[in-house]
Amino acid sequence: MYLQKLSIHNFRCYSSLDQTFDTATTLIDGPNGSGKTALIEAIYWQSTGRSFRHHKSTDLIKHQQDCLSIFSEYITVQENRFKLGVSYSKLNKKTIKCQGEMIHRQTDIAKQFPVIAIDPGCFLWLDHAPAFRRTFLDWLVFHVKPSYLNIWRKTQKVQQHLNKLLKHGKSAEIDVWQSQYVQLAELTHQARQEVFNELQNRFNRLVKYFLPGQSNLFLDYKKGWHEDNLLDVLISRQQVHLKQGYIDAGIHKADLLCRVNNQAAQVFLSRGQKKLLAILMYVIFIEIFETENHHPPVICLDDIDSELDQSTLQLLSDYLQQKNRQLFITTVDAGPVRGFFKNPKVFHVKQDPRKGSILSS
Ligand SMILES: Nc1ncnc2c1ncn2[C@@H]1O[C@H](COP(=O)(O)OP(=O)(O)OP(=O)(O)O)[C@@H](O)[C@H]1O
Ligand SMILES: [Mg+2]
Repeated sequence: MYLQKLSIHNFRCYSSLDQTFDTATTLIDGPNGSGKTALIEAIYWQSTGRSFRHHKSTDLIKHQQDCLSIFSEYITVQENRFKLGVSYSKLNKKTIKCQGEMIHRQTDIAKQFPVIAIDPGCFLWLDHAPAFRRTFLDWLVFHVKPSYLNIWRKTQKVQQHLNKLLKHGKSAEIDVWQSQYVQLAELTHQARQEVFNELQNRFNRLVKYFLPGQSNLFLDYKKGWHEDNLLDVLISRQQVHLKQGYIDAGIHKADLLCRVNNQAAQVFLSRGQKKLLAILMYVIFIEIFETENHHPPVICLDDIDSELDQSTLQLLSDYLQQKNRQLFITTVDAGPVRGFFKNPKVFHVKQDPRKGSILSS
């Protein structure tokens, strides 16, 4: 899937933008606050319905406007053209159209026009709280095993109910719900473990390639309880759980741990190494996605060059440019970066007092 045309109206600093992209790599540069991130955010938002900056969608509507809209044209590997339009109003009304037909679920669009964004929030992959990495793992599992979503939702529901019973001290019902929770938690854990094994293999291979000096770098999966049997843990801790009103062992405690020489990687690695490692986690996601879907997603990488040295940038750009991937990459100054890419098209973003942000090549 290839994004060829993009029209943005009233999205953040953009009043009206019409742009065609005809190269695999698009570099977007410009001063701070000019609208580089907003451009890739628009591409990502149109596909996923979310902003990677965790803002409410109403914040994305240009100030003093009531509605934003994004139109795009995607070309498939078989050279079919798809026209996609998404608009969103301050009254929280969203309209999604593909080939002129109304689409009711954003997830259908995300599947058909996949976009992956790697932004400075992702660069903190190692430093974030466990929930961030757990969500990352779940996101990967959802893609590899479509039935996982159902199991995951059921587990969440049963866990909520169990916590409610613990809170209200209804010990008579607790045993039944505990057993039900354990069955579902085991299924969730098995799915996570299988996908983690794949993640770990790819991680080891990429670390050897990108960080050859860090041979003692390991990735581990923590399932969320210490002993083999979760039911035994819940039974032995029931009095504590009744007191605090929730269970403190289960799938909500899972994490991905990265270690160097048995030390937590987040305290050991440098900022640049941590950023590279975070990008590699998303590279793994892209690779797994491509294996499952047989076509690459559109890849948006925000602020590529900060913290990364020249040789790392060269390795990374070579790696990303394989397999006909389409890349949108932002940087404050494309000058030192463009040489790492094969025939990139460079657009400069600047603010125009009348038209909002505009692109020039
Ligand atoms: N809803 C909105 N309406 C109008 N302008 C907005 C809105 N939301 C954000 N902006 C403005 O959009 C501009 C572009 O922000 P963006 O984050 O894209 O800049 P950037 O070029 O990526 O900068 P940096 O180099 O600092 O990362 C900012 O000046 C911001 O104040
Ligand atoms: Mg930015």
